Amino acid sequence: MPKAIITGITGQDGSYLAELLLSKGYDVWGLVRRSSSFNTARIDHLYQDPHHREVKLRLVYGDLNDSTSLANVLEEVKPDEVYNLGAQSHVRVSFDIPEYTGEISGMGSVRLLEAIRRQNLKTRFYQASSSELFGKVHEVPQKETTPFHPRSPYAAAKAYAYYITLNYREAYGMFAVNGILFNHESPRRGETFVTRKITRGATRIKVGLQDKLYMGNLESKRDWGFAGDYVEGMWRMLQTQEPDDFVLATGETHSVREFAEKVFASLDLDYKQYVEYDAKYERPAEVDLLLGDYAKAKTKLGWEPKVSFDGLVKMMVDADLVLAKEEKALADHKELVRQGQQ
Ligand code: NAP
Ligand code: GDD
Repeated sequence: MPKAIITGITGQDGSYLAELLLSKGYDVWGLVRRSSSFNTARIDHLYQDPHHREVKLRLVYGDLNDSTSLANVLEEVKPDEVYNLGAQSHVRVSFDIPEYTGEISGMGSVRLLEAIRRQNLKTRFYQASSSELFGKVHEVPQKETTPFHPRSPYAAAKAYAYYITLNYREAYGMFAVNGILFNHESPRRGETFVTRKITRGATRIKVGLQDKLYMGNLESKRDWGFAGDYVEGMWRMLQTQEPDDFVLATGETHSVREFAEKVFASLDLDYKQYVEYDAKYERPAEVDLLLGDYAKAKTKLGWEPKVSFDGLVKMMVDADLVLAKEEKALADHKELVRQGQQ
């Protein structure tokens, strides 16, 4: 059975990738950070599935800031594949913690690559590179040959990780690839990223749990796909004959405003009545327009996105409406109990 290590397994992409690899018969090891509260909600179902009689998913403690932990897990597992998805992945937050973001999202990659190299492993390495690298874009649409122009400490860290991955491929002949992924979302998206913030906020407004949604710049445009489609592309990148870098995108772009309008409209609400501006969500430097060209992935990997923009909006709204209704029922129940106690 092939063996894979996933860093960032507790995150959105890590959880979908773990599902995919387990379904393909992999033994999967996930690197997790010690946390003072539970942080495995996105992968708990992989343990709880009664059909997984044999444990195929193992979690080990480690940190991208801690070379020893990375070397230890590599030595123990000797994996066929490593997917480096771990990162401080929030662009706005990276302006507040630039140095930490550099350590994790940038230096974390060289720590892993170096551990693989020093142990003479034949491990294939996937680096979670980002369309944020294109930043202040030099051409539209963006493809593998488009020059980079990072606009945040996060993107600068990811630029280092991109080039060090390329360098280990060229210098040491390692099978190390960059997936340059445009934004991808899902019901498992972190709640402070804009799509999920909108679907969560709008559905909570719909059931009466909140009145307003405070947001920043609504004019930026993103190429949004479904995370489940994108992890399939990551896996395909490690199954090729020759290591190479690939863009994954949908080839469509939409503004944040359009996303909000669509989400609220699907709940029979007018976003203009609920969305308010708060400057704290603005970034010191913005990425105005992302639009990807995934022709290379289509030709060489046979990869294409399956979920449409409307399909993504519906999937996220449906899931968050269920959550909001559960939350409302619990709040109503607590209120009844409180009144009963008076
Ligand atoms: P995410 O939900 O924010 O998950 C990030 C993961 O990294 C979490 O599992 C987190 O663990 C882990 N992590 C954070 N700091 C770490 C550290 N010091 N050591 C080890 N692990 C650490 O991100 P995502 O959306 O799944 O994205 C996955 C990767 O793809 C990231 O590298 C991201 O930058 C990149 N990317 C994402 C997109 C996108 O649109 N989603 C597009 C392009 C590239 P905790 O659960 O403990 O916080
Ligand atoms: N998060 C957030 N919150 N963004 C807002 C808000 C808000 O209240 N209001 C407006 N925005 C705008 C941001 O300014 C940005 O232009 C856009 O919404 C998207 O923001 P995010 O969803 O936070 O994503 P991102 O594009 O900055 O970064 C994501 O995609 C990258 C790939 O291009 C992250 O997943 C990165 O890790 C990833 O590399």
